[in-house]
Amino acid sequence: MTWSAETPYNELPPLPPEVDFESRAVLKAAIRARTALAAMDEASKRMQNPMVLVNSISLLEAQASSEIENIVTTTDELFRFAHDATDSASADTKETLRYRAALFSGLRAIADRPISINTAIEVCTNIHQRDMGVRTLPGTYIGNQATGKAIYTPPTGERVIRDMLSDWVEFVHTDADYDPLVVMAICHYQFEAIHPFADGNGRTGRILNVLQLVAADLLRDPILYLSRYIIQNKDEYYRLLLAVTTDGAWEEWILFILKGIEETAAGTLAKIDAIQELQNTMRIEVKEHTTAGSNSDLLDVLFENPYARIGDVVARCGVSRPTATGWLNALVENDVLVDFKIGRERLFVNHRFMRILSKDTTD
Ligand SMILES: Nc1ncnc2c1ncn2[C@@H]1O[C@H](COP(=O)(O)OP(=O)(O)OP(=O)(O)O)[C@@H](O)[C@H]1O
Ligand SMILES: [Mg+2]
Repeated sequence: MTWSAETPYNELPPLPPEVDFESRAVLKAAIRARTALAAMDEASKRMQNPMVLVNSISLLEAQASSEIENIVTTTDELFRFAHDATDSASADTKETLRYRAALFSGLRAIADRPISINTAIEVCTNIHQRDMGVRTLPGTYIGNQATGKAIYTPPTGERVIRDMLSDWVEFVHTDADYDPLVVMAICHYQFEAIHPFADGNGRTGRILNVLQLVAADLLRDPILYLSRYIIQNKDEYYRLLLAVTTDGAWEEWILFILKGIEETAAGTLAKIDAIQELQNTMRIEVKEHTTAGSNSDLLDVLFENPYARIGDVVARCGVSRPTATGWLNALVENDVLVDFKIGRERLFVNHRFMRILSKDTTD
């Protein structure tokens, strides 16, 4: 049967791919990616307070992944509302924060039981904040944004989709001797090709990538933010997904993902180094300008969320409101923090930390 863009691809081949996908080039790239990933993971494990990275990198991942879907929000706005998405947050910001919540709920889920079809359903449901089941109706397709012309039509029929997902799950847990990063790359294509949901398949699939790496013990925390690389290479991402379908171009696809892992891990490692350097600088500044002394709780507050409130310091450091206010004011006066007001609330921004987070380290 010949493949066509308009016809539901119910002939999607099961995994593993029939071609020899572990070529010499793939294996070499996998080693490079594994090395970069391990270096990043090790560096993150050495951080005194892992929440600093978990909170911030997961938010950057959410931002980039949502941006692929044209849900665009600024890093400032996201971090400002990270602790409570009040009504004044834009719809896009709220949706991006839901992506991060979905990522976290996925991590909690896989701590208890292995990745399954239900994991995907749960993640997609959390992204959308409404029950997302596997598609039961035909009509879903990937089309050209401008013309609406079909580019790829995923399989139809709930039974067909569920069977394909079972096959996908089996390969997620394959005990064959494949490189786990290669397995992840293959699974991501397959999941997108099955396209089990009416919407949210891209984002769910990108969260599943992280979950797979954590489940494979390649990553302790969800700090690989591959979606930055994907959005920077969005056309390529789409082109290569399609080329697997039309030409069985597995090698190119796998190499693309492996390169992304390597680059992203190296970029995040650079961020970790910069963050630690800033923490050392600020530890001295806090000692110099406040009576907090070597109270590391204060430093934790300023790094766990780069937008701190007086109440955060009160709660975390166990000091009175005037003391907390005094500390924060002193840090503002000495250019350690920048403050501004929203409504009645004062926010204190760790602006150098924000700069490290927003800076594109892949350049
Ligand atoms: N030719 C293709 N074959 C299979 N999957 C594709 C193809 N082109 C794009 N995709 C996947 O489909 C996703 C879009 O699907 P969908 O709109 O359901 O997901 P989303 O999460 O809402 O959007 P987005 O991924 O754009 O954020 C893309 O991100 C990509 O992962
Ligand atoms: Mg969509």
